[in-house]
Amino acid sequence: VDRVISIDEMRLHARRRLPRAVFDAIDGGAGDELTMRDNRDAFRRIRLRPRALADVSQRDVSTTVLGVPISMPLMLAPCGMARMADSGAEISAAKAAVRAGTIFAVSGAASYSLEEVASVGPNALWYQLYLPPNRADAEQLVGAAARANYRVLCVTVDSPVAPKRERDFRNGLTIPLRVSAKMLLAGVSKPGWTRDFLFGRLGRSDEFGFYRSWSGYQRLATTISGFMPVTMDDIHWLRDRWHGKLVVKGVQRGDECRALTDAGVDGLVVSNHGGRNLDGARASIDVLPEVVAAADGRAEVFVDGGIRRGADVLKALALGARACLVGRPYMYGLAAAGESGVDQVLRIFSNEIDNAAALLGCSRIQDLEASFIDVETRTEPLRHSG
Ligand SMILES: Cc1cc2nc3c(=O)[nH]c(=O)nc-3n(C[C@H](O)[C@H](O)[C@H](O)COP(=O)(O)O)c2cc1C
Repeated sequence: VDRVISIDEMRLHARRRLPRAVFDAIDGGAGDELTMRDNRDAFRRIRLRPRALADVSQRDVSTTVLGVPISMPLMLAPCGMARMADSGAEISAAKAAVRAGTIFAVSGAASYSLEEVASVGPNALWYQLYLPPNRADAEQLVGAAARANYRVLCVTVDSPVAPKRERDFRNGLTIPLRVSAKMLLAGVSKPGWTRDFLFGRLGRSDEFGFYRSWSGYQRLATTISGFMPVTMDDIHWLRDRWHGKLVVKGVQRGDECRALTDAGVDGLVVSNHGGRNLDGARASIDVLPEVVAAADGRAEVFVDGGIRRGADVLKALALGARACLVGRPYMYGLAAAGESGVDQVLRIFSNEIDNAAALLGCSRIQDLEASFIDVETRTEPLRHSG
């Protein structure tokens, strides 16, 4: 895996190791996968304008996110059920992130408890909250995250109902993942994965370890978490109870940002859930300028969806993002080779970001701004008034 040179190549390694249903559950999107594909195509449409006569002999791609220094402007997005990729799951992702000097957002549907993941390095972790249906459960979960020393609470707001992911329907995927006869059959040709899935560290059927630290777990596990509308009332309620930084993930229009920043939200993640929820939603990078303009410096703006190259990260920063997140890329790494696969994914991004920044004529990534982007290929910042 150390010889893998790109994220696309890592994806092929993941495909080789995983049963079809599991690969599809990670790789796929909703509906016709229009948004999922557009997340990448939109990055491809954007062209860069390198500055040739810049001294790039000394370079610095480090930055800060909500006051925390990170080695590069790339973080790991929350991905639930990482255990289906590899039994090391969130523990492996967290260790790799700490090693690379960046941040890992631990999913609200993780396979390990929030305390177990926090022990790897709370400073480098965000806790992604799927808001439970009732306040008592929510209060308990938020309290547990605070006691485990998570500094950032990242509430996902783009998943009010279960999405229509057709690959999963076709493959008969159940969540939590249960071993069916069909899967055992598929497992014959994927012995590495099957052995790890059945006998790896978490060789038990309980997928949602996170909720073990919380008594509402049983209630939520039966309905499968995540699918809950989050309203402005909930954001105010969370702001009153969470004393660390508050990030809202899943923002897709500028006109909602003012209310969020007025409510005291510190960070906004422009995201369509990697094209896994509403098919037909705009590509994240196309939405970014609208949200950056609306946030008006009152919150840090992050973006995820379709980022597969270091140059994609630079494009996002030039359009105003503070940093980017990636989901599938590290899940491919995890599936291909566990912790060392995630290490390699982070190494690929770090090298590509540094290399592209040098070729772009930008020695400090803080200096990235709109002149590095060809306006002809850039989306209009605001298509709607208000
Ligand atoms: C397998 C998988 C599981 C995910 N689970 C969650 C989750 O539990 N919570 C969440 O907020 N987002 C979740 N996401 C969305 C990611 O956080 C992120 O928004 C998305 O993957 C970014 O797009 P990319 O995969 O193209 O990088 C998941 C994505 C994948 C691929």
